[in-house]
Amino acid sequence: MAADVSLPANFHTVLGHWQLHRYPLRNHDPLQAWDSADVLLHQHMADLNCHFPVLVNDQFGALAVACQQPQIAAMSDSYISVCSWQHNLQINQLATQIIPLTGLTAVPAGIDQVLMKLPKSSSLLSYQLQQLAASIEQPVALLAAAKSKLFTPAIRALFEHYCDQVEVSLIEKKARVLSAQLRPLAAAGAAALNYWQDPDYPLQLGHYPGVFSRNQLDLGARLFLQHLPAAGADQVIDLGCGNGVLGLRYAQISPASTILWVDESYLAIASCQHNIERNLGGADSRYQTAVDDCLSQQATASADLILCNPPFHQEHAITTHIAQQMFRDSKRVLRHGGELRVVANRHLAYHQPLERLFGAVTVVASNPKFVLLSVRR
Ligand SMILES: C[S@@+](CC[C@H](N)C(=O)[O-])C[C@H]1O[C@@H](n2cnc3c(N)ncnc32)[C@H](O)[C@@H]1O
Repeated sequence: MAADVSLPANFHTVLGHWQLHRYPLRNHDPLQAWDSADVLLHQHMADLNCHFPVLVNDQFGALAVACQQPQIAAMSDSYISVCSWQHNLQINQLATQIIPLTGLTAVPAGIDQVLMKLPKSSSLLSYQLQQLAASIEQPVALLAAAKSKLFTPAIRALFEHYCDQVEVSLIEKKARVLSAQLRPLAAAGAAALNYWQDPDYPLQLGHYPGVFSRNQLDLGARLFLQHLPAAGADQVIDLGCGNGVLGLRYAQISPASTILWVDESYLAIASCQHNIERNLGGADSRYQTAVDDCLSQQATASADLILCNPPFHQEHAITTHIAQQMFRDSKRVLRHGGELRVVANRHLAYHQPLERLFGAVTVVASNPKFVLLSVRR
């Protein structure tokens, strides 16, 4: 999609002036690609003297465009962020080389500055600090920016666990910057998988840091599992799969189905791969995973059933636009007669966009909080 001129894309700070878009591009996008914490971090970046910075959780490239160094590293669990950096560097004609550190990738040696935005998940923050600390041999300066309210006592304590000289700035436009010296750590522990097993289902599910429903089965997913479509669909997709719970359970009741699990989070896909192996046995060509933005890389008319528990957050922003993109992509990817089954919070009223796209919507089940909807192509 071509960028619309009305997109709020002029990003102006003490360090310069850029065009900056959220990715994927949307006409009349009401959400900006940066926040006041990015602007505040730019003020602190003006005085830096470093050669090989690592950016952490730079959501759409607000930090990447401002880096003067020819090569930087950038750590993120989001495929959409990786696409955004590439897009925004390109439209600003910047040749900065980015080494992406996604999922479980090791941090390269030699980083001399950490520039961080706080992630939503504290387990992900802890894992990222641990990975960075294990990659350095001497203390490295760290700056972390976020909306002021996100610097809770627990988050400050986490920084104090990994850093010395932790200081937090005064509030400016509702944001703060934490500065600290990251302490070298003798060795990185392996990324901890957090397991749970629900008494109602024969699944043992592992979760890397930051992955959705890391501590228990999501209530929406529970309603979904109670009303899974009948066994027998040929090509099945678990869209926004997280730990893979919906597709895994479908695979158990429908062993002849071919299943693809899709998520934009690298750690969700790593968790899902682990869970496929643990719950469905070893390598099996019927079971595949893909990191993707919704179904952007999946072939038209290639699926018979799509199972979807869509997100309504993008990091700290509440938004339904990803769910709506999932519905549009599903319509393209489903074969004639194929089914999209969606669980969602009742108040999101997804029957409306689904009806506009597909026509008749069936309410499969509901409870006071969630509703499970089905549409056919
Ligand atoms: C509500 S969670 C559901 C997870 C899992 N299916 C369950 O029921 O527990 C939504 C998932 O969608 C993923 N997601 C968010 N944006 C996405 C996108 N653009 N494309 C694919 N997956 C996305 C999130 O990473 C998250 O794992």
